[in-house]
Amino acid sequence: MMMRAVVGLWVLSAVICVGRGHHHLGHDDDKAVQDTVVDGSANSVSLVNEANKEFSFRLYRQLAAHADSQGKNIFFSPASVSTALAALSVGAQGETHRQLFSGLGFNSSLLTQTDVDQAFQTFLQRANNTSQEDASEGTAVFVDKIFKLKPEFLQTLKQSYLADGFNVDFSQSTKSADTINKYVEEKTNGKIDQLVEDLDANTFMCLISYIYYKGKWATQFDPKLTKQDDFNVDENTKVSVDMMNLEDRLHTYHDRELNTTVLQLPFNSSYSMLLMLPDVMATLENAISPNHVTKWLKAMMRPRRHDVYIPKFSIRTSYKLNDVLTEMGMTDMFDGHADLGGIYEEDWFGLTVSKLVHKATLDVDETGAEAAASTAILIGRTSDLPGDVLKFNRPFMVIITERNTEKILFLGKIINPTI
Ligand SMILES: *[C@@H]1O[C@H](CO)[C@@H](O)[C@H](O)[C@H]1NC(C)=O
Ligand SMILES: *[C@@H]1O[C@H](CO)[C@@H](O)[C@H](O)[C@H]1NC(C)=O
Ligand SMILES: *[C@@H]1O[C@H](CO)[C@@H](O)[C@H](O)[C@H]1NC(C)=O
Ligand SMILES: *[C@@H]1O[C@H](CO)[C@@H](O)[C@H](O)[C@H]1NC(C)=O
Ligand SMILES: *[C@@H]1O[C@H](CO)[C@@H](O)[C@H](O)[C@H]1NC(C)=O
Repeated sequence: MMMRAVVGLWVLSAVICVGRGHHHLGHDDDKAVQDTVVDGSANSVSLVNEANKEFSFRLYRQLAAHADSQGKNIFFSPASVSTALAALSVGAQGETHRQLFSGLGFNSSLLTQTDVDQAFQTFLQRANNTSQEDASEGTAVFVDKIFKLKPEFLQTLKQSYLADGFNVDFSQSTKSADTINKYVEEKTNGKIDQLVEDLDANTFMCLISYIYYKGKWATQFDPKLTKQDDFNVDENTKVSVDMMNLEDRLHTYHDRELNTTVLQLPFNSSYSMLLMLPDVMATLENAISPNHVTKWLKAMMRPRRHDVYIPKFSIRTSYKLNDVLTEMGMTDMFDGHADLGGIYEEDWFGLTVSKLVHKATLDVDETGAEAAASTAILIGRTSDLPGDVLKFNRPFMVIITERNTEKILFLGKIINPTI
């Protein structure tokens, strides 16, 4: 059987667990979502899309600056985190809602919660479109049997965030963690299998978002050309990697402002991976913005011949995002001031977000791919002239994006492909 090279599996999931925090008195439930807006829905979809892209890089920088991230690869899905937080904001009120909106970059004088909900509905429906059989995205809500959700909250989650709803018994913490983990494992083709580990007995609800993407390169690598080679983690550290090689007409761009060379590797679809090789990582990661991505995609009009070397890698990341999001101004949802009165029916004061975890995996796999990859080497081979060498043998950044919407599905930094 001829198997096509499966070159990428991107999976990840985010989860927000709401538990009972400190008791506090409720404040007036002034909804912060009643601003009048005249813009059409197409405009709010593009405002939310722009905000999501900005959020991707703000979250990246916050994660990269964090002490726990030093010396580690970074990989996460901005799309999954913003979907989960936007779904939470449906049930948030007052200052908690204001912080979520501003943390996500939604301008409340231009966007209402309803606009945001409709925009996410558009994104999720697009992602779930059958034409992309290997991409899926969605949400789910797991609620304790004794906890009554407001019907409006559940209705909005189901309609706009395409949420699946489940009742569980959180007093049985192992069993309920199992139920959640099984669901996520199934939705991510087995890639994320232990999303929630230690559910504490005070958990009443769990809101989940997941995203899964699998793509084949438009032009595939020949496994026979994959050779052991050095990857320079830093000036003093070399590690040995399986370096893949491809010589082809490819889209690249040298960004003089950032001293960074950008390679676009298209999938056999409207999706692409962007690989960014900077002279100095800090120059790139401190400045990278949605405008750069737009500029790169526009500038890469004509492909040029290149001899490209990219390590084969497989990484797994796990984040607890409480601190990072607090640092981004989303403080109240984590403490006794959380106002999540839009979620539940009775006066359950003191509910807070107890934990926000995010796990991601990225696999570059050649197993059983020899035949298809050989074919790929032949595609586009229009001359025997040697091309410019572009070798990703030191730390680089990656983005998985959809080229028309420039939606950022995944974002990361590979500093050591072997950890
Ligand atoms: C929100 O939009 C209004 C109206 O366009 C603008 O004046 C204001 O500066 C924006 N706020 C932020 C934080 O961007
Ligand atoms: C789904 O795909 C079909 C065919 O490509 C297209 O007509 C439709 O508008 C898409 N739906 C969404 C929500 O993007
Ligand atoms: C996604 O699309 C599939 C096939 O069209 C459909 O069966 C499924 O219900 C959709 N999922 C969601 C969450 O809408
Ligand atoms: C880019 O590289 C050039 C030449 O090495 C250097 O003069 C310039 O300062 C660099 N720019 C940045 C933003 O690092
Ligand atoms: C790319 O997709 C087209 C259409 O779906 C298909 O005919 C072709 O075989 C695919 N190529 C690879 C390398 O998967």
